This record gives sequence, C-alpha cells and structure tokens, in this order.
Amino acid sequence: MLAYRHLFHAGNFADVFKHALLVRLLIALGNKDKPYCYLDTHAGIGRYDFTHAWAQKAREYENGIGRLWERKDIPPALAPYLDAVKAENTGRRLRFYPGSPLIAKRFVRPVDRIVLTELNKSDFADLKDLFAHDRQVAVHLLDGYQGLKAFLPPRERRGLVLIDSSFDRAKEFARITEALAEAHARWATGTYAIWYPLMEPGAIRNFERDVENTGIRKILKLELQIQERGLNGTIPGCGMLLVNPPWRFEDEARPLLRWLWSALSVKGAGGASVNWLVRE
Ligand SMILES: C[S@@+](CC[C@H](N)C(=O)[O-])C[C@H]1O[C@@H](n2cnc3c(N)ncnc32)[C@H](O)[C@@H]1O
Repeated sequence: MLAYRHLFHAGNFADVFKHALLVRLLIALGNKDKPYCYLDTHAGIGRYDFTHAWAQKAREYENGIGRLWERKDIPPALAPYLDAVKAENTGRRLRFYPGSPLIAKRFVRPVDRIVLTELNKSDFADLKDLFAHDRQVAVHLLDGYQGLKAFLPPRERRGLVLIDSSFDRAKEFARITEALAEAHARWATGTYAIWYPLMEPGAIRNFERDVENTGIRKILKLELQIQERGLNGTIPGCGMLLVNPPWRFEDEARPLLRWLWSALSVKGAGGASVNWLVRE
C-alpha cells in the first residue's frame, strides 16, 4: 500500500507534460475576476530535491525538465512553467523542482484558494511543513477520492480539480472513472484534469469507453508519447483527460505539446495529440 514515492520520478517527462498544462489551466482560470478553488487530490510533497538519493536512483528528471533547463528557445506558452521551476532554484543549477501544489501557489491570486489531499503520512507531513502558516492553502491527510466528496462543489463554484494518481493499485482506472462520475454529479461545471500513464493499450481503451459511458460531455484528451515502449520500468507516454477545458484550450495545447514532444522524444519516437474524447 502506498509504496509509490514521487521523488523517484519528479521532473520526468510526465511531470513536464502535466505541469506545463497545469500552468496554462491556472492562467486561464485567473483571466476572469471571480475567485476559484484549486483541488489537488494526490498532492505529493510539493517540492522535490534532485540531490536526494531517490531522485538520483534513475535520474528521470534528466530526460524531463533537464532537457528544457538550458534551452534558450522556450515558446512563450511554456515560459511561465519554466519560470516556476527557475523560481525554486538560485543560479543556473537545476536542483529543486516544484510539484503541482507549489506550481498552483505561484499562479493563484490572493482571492483564490488551494485545497490539497495526500494519503501518504510522510509525504503529508512534508507538504504540511511546506505550507505551514499559509492560510490560502489547506492540507489534508485524506484519500483524494474522499476529498472529492468532502470539498466539491467548492463555495467559489469555479475551479480546477487535478486527479494525479500514482496508479499503484490494480483497477485505478475504474476507481478514477467512478470518482469522476460522482464528482461531476456534485459539480458539473468544474474543470477536471485527470493524468494517466500510457500503459497497455487495452486498459486505455477500456478507460476511455468507461469515461464516455458516464455521459459526461466536453472531454478533451491530450497525450504525449516519447518512446515506442517503456524501458527499464518507465512508461512510454502519458495523457490527460480534461473535462470542461477552458475555451479553445485545444488550440493552445496543440503547439505546446508538439514542441514538448520535439524536445523530449527519444530519437523522434512517439508523438503528441489533442482530440475530443467527447464533444459538447
Ligand atoms: C503522482 S504523485 C503526485 C504528484 C503531484 N500531483 C505533483 O504533480 O507534484 C501521487 C501522490 O498520490 C499519493 N496517493 C496515492 N494514493 C492516494 C490517494 N488515494 N489519495 C491521496 N493521495 C494518494 C501518493 O502518496 C503520491 O504522493
């Protein structure tokens, strides 16, 4: 149970994909005056140190954020994400990496609110320390799926839910589909971002079919694959389902993911795609 520790994988290509999109979503939400709530169901520790032995084990960050760190041709749409990583590091050396909670903290406005749930006790303790005395951020030691029931709909009636499971249990896809259907029934107008690994194609097809069968409309599917198959236990790609994406998000995401693919792909393998799983 809960053997997964994100420090082994922090800053890898999947984090770059997820966090680059997260930043664009937060920026879009901040474009309207009304306050919003950001709920992160699987929050992690919030900040990662690449000098830690766990991060050094496979050094996954080298093929993720490490590939972007020195580049001088970052597209404008990705610059705010890179700035968020730079803000954690002094000088030119890449040592620290912000997780989704810290990225959110950088983009929310004083009127907005952050709610984080994390089930691993040790990760929760680190997260709680990171946001100690920060009244804008509520940190809970709680199952993220219970959190959806406890915190939705948010009082602001606007916001983003990130469901970023570690997929360390069998049937996680089914659990996510069920949780999404329940959450959507409580709060149909929220934006939901669901990250998933590209594992066996059959499992992904079943996931898509089950999500379609919930009857939820307006679901954008974004995927990035950087190699033909996962090597040494890594995944070849990952995706995000976005329920109720911001207006024209697909037009913004397409060139962004295309650029990320060109920067992160292994010998030109894989690709990037943005398609509607279910239209309005
Ligand atoms: C992929 S990591 C999260 C990374 C983080 N969202 C980020 O982008 O920086 C998944 C996290 O979920 C936690 N976790 C696993 N099952 C959970 C559950 N049912 N509820 C809440 N957290 C869970 C793990 O301990 C791990 O820290």
